[in-house]
Amino acid sequence: MAVRPRNSLPRPGVDARHQEHQPLKGLALMKIGIIGAGNIGGNLTRRLTALGHDVSVANSRGPQTLTALAEETGATPVPVGEAARGAEVVVVTVPLKAVPDLPSGVLDGLADGAAVIDTGNYYPQQRDGRIAAIEDGRLTESRWTSQQIGHPVVKAFNGTYAQDILDRHRPAGDPDRMALPVAGDDAAAKQVVRDLIDELGFDTVDAGGIDESWRQQPGTPVYGLQKGLEAVTKALAEASAERPADFRG
Ligand SMILES: NC(=O)c1ccc[n+]([C@@H]2O[C@H](COP(=O)([O-])OP(=O)(O)OC[C@H]3O[C@@H](n4cnc5c(N)ncnc54)[C@H](OP(=O)(O)O)[C@@H]3O)[C@@H](O)[C@H]2O)c1
Repeated sequence: MAVRPRNSLPRPGVDARHQEHQPLKGLALMKIGIIGAGNIGGNLTRRLTALGHDVSVANSRGPQTLTALAEETGATPVPVGEAARGAEVVVVTVPLKAVPDLPSGVLDGLADGAAVIDTGNYYPQQRDGRIAAIEDGRLTESRWTSQQIGHPVVKAFNGTYAQDILDRHRPAGDPDRMALPVAGDDAAAKQVVRDLIDELGFDTVDAGGIDESWRQQPGTPVYGLQKGLEAVTKALAEASAERPADFRG
């Protein structure tokens, strides 16, 4: 991944609200693909472009429907099959029920060692319908998604309010800095994601591997928790493996 100076000047044509105005410093700028341009995908596009990353973004309806987001952020709208090409980080942020609809080979052409972030949650009653393998406890939500897309994932942002990505980022050391749990089996990919989240303005807590990621699924103490490192660590430890009734299909 290239290390280039961060440009402290606003980029022409890009909405100044999402731009950083910081002194020049060395930063690993990455090629990032975002699959899903809704609440989470849209706000990650806003913040990651503001940090100077090269962001491609896709939805189900095609790039021609993403011109407003592109004009606002400088991101490149692409067909979903192209979002991952050459990407060092990909964010899969579509409703869980839409994961099997992603085109086969959607992650073809990833950069070597790329990290694939899964932000997904299983909402059987409101949105996703019943998925037996998740429901009967055989697979965590992210293990299921990983099997569907045929690539290991790092689970992050799933319990983060989309608006907090824009509004609640803080510099390292700020007493109000929130912490986010991050789970994944690939230590190197998990570190890339943790570094990126730090750059986005949040601390992280290592929540273990994907088979342990039930600790951060909907209905757990950490889900939606807007607190720092200590509280997030405690909440992860207090999670119950039993799926709450509200999140059963
Ligand atoms: N909202 C939150 O605050 C929040 C917080 C944490 C985690 N999450 C989780 O993150 C995931 C995304 O949530 P969201 O609220 O961002 O969803 P959303 O606002 O409903 O947006 C979903 C996006 O996915 C796209 N999409 C759907 N099917 C697709 C397909 N087959 N190919 C390509 N793109 C597709 C949609 O494109 P079109 O509009 O073109 O159909 C849309 O851009 C969910 O699992 C959710 O539970 C959400």
